[in-house]
Amino acid sequence: DGYNVAVVGATGAVGTKLIEMLEQTNLPLKNVKLLASQRSAGRKLLFKGAGIFVEELTADSFDDVDIAFFSAGGSTSQKFASEAVNRGVVVIDNTSQFRMDKDTPLVVPEVNKETLKQHQGIIANPNCSTIQMMVALKPIKELAGIDRIIASTYQAVSGAGARAVEEVKQQSREILDGELTENLTTEILPVASDKKHYPLAFNALAQIDEFAEEDYTKEEWKMVNETKKIMEDSQIKVSATCVRVPVITSHSESIYIETIEQTSVDQIRDSLEKAPGIVVEDDPSQQVYPQALNSVGKKETFVGRIRQDLDIEDGYHLWVVSDNLLKGAAWNSVQIAETLHEMDLVRV
Ligand code: A2P
Repeated sequence: DGYNVAVVGATGAVGTKLIEMLEQTNLPLKNVKLLASQRSAGRKLLFKGAGIFVEELTADSFDDVDIAFFSAGGSTSQKFASEAVNRGVVVIDNTSQFRMDKDTPLVVPEVNKETLKQHQGIIANPNCSTIQMMVALKPIKELAGIDRIIASTYQAVSGAGARAVEEVKQQSREILDGELTENLTTEILPVASDKKHYPLAFNALAQIDEFAEEDYTKEEWKMVNETKKIMEDSQIKVSATCVRVPVITSHSESIYIETIEQTSVDQIRDSLEKAPGIVVEDDPSQQVYPQALNSVGKKETFVGRIRQDLDIEDGYHLWVVSDNLLKGAAWNSVQIAETLHEMDLVRV
């Protein structure tokens, strides 16, 4: 008999994709509960063609639930995840709230599913930019070790939520209609909680999340700290620049690595082609390389432009693209649930 699952934040950008991924999962499901704020209570959403009413999230929502997927912001997770765990629920959390907690596994199933065995009720889904980078770098780490990573991201707006997507679409319409850039509606991006807002349409903003230590943003720190935790390597050198671009879905990343042992482009390509969850698209002679638009709706991480650095012998460059709402969020979460089921770790 199947699991009762709940989606917290079911009306949001990630929640919507969680519902789609649950429609496709081979996880045995009994009941699906859709939770959001009071604003959405009573709305009807479709699951496998049948209407399900959205309910307002309260602590009691978790009675009878086995697995809950949280994607309604860090404060909602902070408030309700432990309520759920106290009721025997396994929480798979999409926010950054618990990612760096010592007792919380931070999981990309292709990379470190063994850490699920240590879970104490909450499992954290890493940051979207970190997930696709980990998928691409794991085989290279196994091949030759990695000493250093420098990542520059080109991140899609849907990572900032459904309202941010609407904001960029509206700005784009206003610009095409001849509106001056200083008159554009700017209320959310780059970061809803920050003081200033700038247009993203026809622009690129080198700020994702708020600024923090050393003038790096929190998003950049997430890539640094989460990489060290997932790779179980506190010594690995990681640095990142995270940029929001006016792409609706799929993050692209330019990743530079330095390997510990000597290897080659051919060996790297070969290891990537054999790795789970990766599609290599790399044929410059045919202009073949990963594109954000082509990866939308796909669960895999796409890797191309694999080449050696021109000056550094053990330096390599990669272009890594994946759907930020799927592998970066909803699919990775449902894949964690499937893996918990396979490892018999749901009801413990
Ligand atoms: P609602 O649609 O009712 O506001 P996104 O990441 O696209 O912005 O979506 C955020 C999701 O989190 C939405 O489903 C939203 O529900 C939900 N949410 C936001 N705040 C709360 C809250 N305090 N309690 C429950 N759900 C919330």
